[in-house]
Amino acid sequence: MTGKMEYLTFFNGHKMPILGLGTAHALGDDIEKAIDAALEIGYRHIDTAQRYNNEAQIGRALKKWLDSGKIKREDLFIVTKLPLTGNRAECVEKHLKQSLHDLQLDYVDLYLIHHPVGFQDLDPKDNGEEMLLDMNTDHVSLWKAMEDQVDAGRARSIGLSNFNARQVKRVWRSARIKPANLQVELHVYFQQSELRAFCRALDITICGYIPLGAPGVRPPGRAAITVDASKMPKRDQMTNPVVSQIAQKHGKTNAQVLLRYIIQLGVAAIPKSTNPDRLRQNFDVFDFELSAEDMDTLEQLDKGPAGRQVRAFIPEMANHPEYPFNAHY
Ligand SMILES: NC(=O)c1ccc[n+]([C@@H]2O[C@H](COP(=O)([O-])OP(=O)(O)OC[C@H]3O[C@@H](n4cnc5c(N)ncnc54)[C@H](OP(=O)(O)O)[C@@H]3O)[C@@H](O)[C@H]2O)c1
Repeated sequence: MTGKMEYLTFFNGHKMPILGLGTAHALGDDIEKAIDAALEIGYRHIDTAQRYNNEAQIGRALKKWLDSGKIKREDLFIVTKLPLTGNRAECVEKHLKQSLHDLQLDYVDLYLIHHPVGFQDLDPKDNGEEMLLDMNTDHVSLWKAMEDQVDAGRARSIGLSNFNARQVKRVWRSARIKPANLQVELHVYFQQSELRAFCRALDITICGYIPLGAPGVRPPGRAAITVDASKMPKRDQMTNPVVSQIAQKHGKTNAQVLLRYIIQLGVAAIPKSTNPDRLRQNFDVFDFELSAEDMDTLEQLDKGPAGRQVRAFIPEMANHPEYPFNAHY
């Protein structure tokens, strides 16, 4: 790779590599090998979550690298997330300690509340069948427990995921330690311009998930059965002719243009891949620059909220008082 990694700087001075590795739906040997390959390529930012059921495999791969001395802990930026079943103040420490145990780390660089909707703490099943909503989710008391994790040295920074602007503002107002980062769906069809401006004003950085539009990934759980695929927005960012034209001009792939666009918006991107060639391709985005004209052209592809691909992963979520996605942003 030519070109140098870029970073987002949090309000507290910590720096997040602007390109990271997504790990959702990557399990077992696949993810262990992918982490190995990714670290070799140069990835240092890894995004996981207790919900992804892969922290132990990621932990094994990280430990191998740390023990070998090829990498230092301070060179890594590890993100994980409080599961939706843990959205109560008294659950936060237990879940973060479990994640640290599985990741074989003393601290994470960023700990996020995965989702504003809370579930009861029953055994989480992948397909969501056993998940029951907890209608009493209280973000303010939950955030205080997140702050305790920074005090205890278990998280360097804390943040939010899938919160809408009203929810972010409420946490931000109540916070002793401010949220450093908001992780939300963000790609060329759903560019989140209002939310980006809102977060900029509060000095909260943004990380965009499903930056490639998650080609090939079916919505998980019961949503896969109950959602009518014809009503889902098209996931064809990767074959969009406008993107292809810009990619050809720069001698790059569509995926590289989609990622470079997000980076030039000042947003972190966490594409997932377990394929070594695609891992390399997705990382190779620091040796070219999209022109102002390219940026304007890509901005025109925004569909606004109609471009959102992730909604409730079980339909009942939409009945929760903190369901975030009915707001415009
Ligand atoms: N906070 C949240 O609620 C939330 C929600 C969703 C996702 N996330 C995070 O965001 C990450 C990224 O989202 P995502 O994994 O859903 O979607 P994505 O990164 O947009 O797309 C991943 C899919 O694209 C394929 N792919 C990757 N690079 C490619 C390339 N260069 N060319 C062609 N295909 C390529 C991957 O397959 P291969 O592996 O076979 O390459 C995989 O099927 C997740 O892994 C997770 O860490 C967070």
